[in-house]
Amino acid sequence: MIQIKDFKNYEGKTIETQGWVMNKRSGKGLEFIILRDGSGFAQCVVNQDEVGDAMFETAKRLSQESSVCLEGKIIKDEKQMGGYELQVSKVRLIGESVDYPISNKEHGIDFLMDKRHLWLRSKRQWAILKIRNRLIYAINTFFQKEDFVQTDSPIFTGNAAEGSTTLFASKFYDTDAYLAQTGQLYGEAMAMAMGKIYTFGPTFRAEKSKTRRHLSEFWMIEPEMAFFDNDMNMDLIEKFIKYIVSDVLDTCKSELDILGRNTEVFENITKKDFPRLTYDEAVEIIKGKKAVNGKTCIDILKEDLAKVKAQIRANKDEIAAKEKEIAGGVKKGKRNFLQSKIDRLKNEISDLEKNEKNIPQWLKSAENFEYGNDFGGSDETVITRMFDVPVMVYNWPHEIKAFYMKRDKDKPEMAKGVDVLAPEGYGEIVGGGERETDLNLLLEKIEEHKLPMEAFEWYLDLRRYGSVPHAGFGLGLERTVAWICGTQHIRETIPFPRYYGRLHP
Ligand code: 4AD
Ligand code: MG
Repeated sequence: MIQIKDFKNYEGKTIETQGWVMNKRSGKGLEFIILRDGSGFAQCVVNQDEVGDAMFETAKRLSQESSVCLEGKIIKDEKQMGGYELQVSKVRLIGESVDYPISNKEHGIDFLMDKRHLWLRSKRQWAILKIRNRLIYAINTFFQKEDFVQTDSPIFTGNAAEGSTTLFASKFYDTDAYLAQTGQLYGEAMAMAMGKIYTFGPTFRAEKSKTRRHLSEFWMIEPEMAFFDNDMNMDLIEKFIKYIVSDVLDTCKSELDILGRNTEVFENITKKDFPRLTYDEAVEIIKGKKAVNGKTCIDILKEDLAKVKAQIRANKDEIAAKEKEIAGGVKKGKRNFLQSKIDRLKNEISDLEKNEKNIPQWLKSAENFEYGNDFGGSDETVITRMFDVPVMVYNWPHEIKAFYMKRDKDKPEMAKGVDVLAPEGYGEIVGGGERETDLNLLLEKIEEHKLPMEAFEWYLDLRRYGSVPHAGFGLGLERTVAWICGTQHIRETIPFPRYYGRLHP
């Protein structure tokens, strides 16, 4: 059996292949099958004269998602998807597919999510999962090359590390337990044993809201390094993100193409340094008091708004012109062509109108931002709009950060945390920082956060026995996939997403 991705090695040869019928159209004495096998997509042409009446009848009856085995000759054809075509000589049905529920027409998102187990077969979902796979590979490659040891942290835990409001309660035999929000605390222990480690596992947060950035179950990569301060941490984060993004861009061109992702937005990722802003500087930018390249965020957002309005007007004019053309009387083919253009322009308008509403709200909430608060989604969008590469924001008010963050010696009201914000409104992809090593400050913090001291005794031992400066970070896998793929929503970036209101399938 030859996989579609290997067709290029068998030009002119007769081979056997197997897969599923994605799509089919008929011509006179011909059936054109688009076959997919998980490795790729290929057009397979069944000619009645070639296969005989019985097999041609089988081909004719093939419905969407039927599985088949095909024998045929591989022909180079640059016009075709994948560059090769199969001229079929034998058709054998493996498994029938009756009334496949997902057709090529538009379906609502809830319907598709209910049918997620089948929706995964679509080309777009295939491309996203391939990119996710490559990203995982690149992440492991990067850390292995940098001499990190991969270690695993438990999922059942007695510790709340990232705030008690998002804990999923569980039972561990007769004892109350939680699902891990992070592997970090265990990562710190393992870094004291191994030097440089990373964990890569599922993490759980009860986020009782539906946003385009939040899942209840997501995968996190968490490196932790002994003898690192936050500057070294930021250097590593930057090197890491540059590596994984450029690896995926290099190796997943056809997948990004399927997604229609404009990869120009990544053009500067390896060429430019990521800006490093203190929290204070970032607040000045949000409030429009600090300019970047001569422009404040207010200037830029006002320009954006003007562009959006102009584009809406232009689309409306174009729609009117096309409707006039249709009304004037055109042939059916031309009419369909014009109508599909009109539909596309209307879709664009509805996206643009969302922006038209959002931008003034962002401006308002940016203006009213209060120093000391955490950034909301729109604040992150405003900051990142000023740059064309990810932005690092460091030195945060300690009150809004986790209990374990190291306090700045010179500015004790600040903690040495860092967040990395991705461009184009994808928000925070990395959170991390240097860890508190002062036992007394940690004890204070654990009390302040009303955390049960007994559960943290083991963690405090790390400060009692040969404590060293150390730092680390967590990269959210799905947020990173969403950013690279340019998906509107994080729910498409994991095979079976879990978010508020979604446990099935
Ligand atoms: O900023 P967070 O909460 O940091 C930590 O958990 C640290 N313990 C990491 C560390 O220093 N070892 O989460 C880290 C990242 C976020 O930047 C985001 O990318 C992702 O995890 N993340 C989520 N992704 C999807 N859905 C959610 N509900 C997420 N919450 C966090
Ligand atoms: Mg965070």
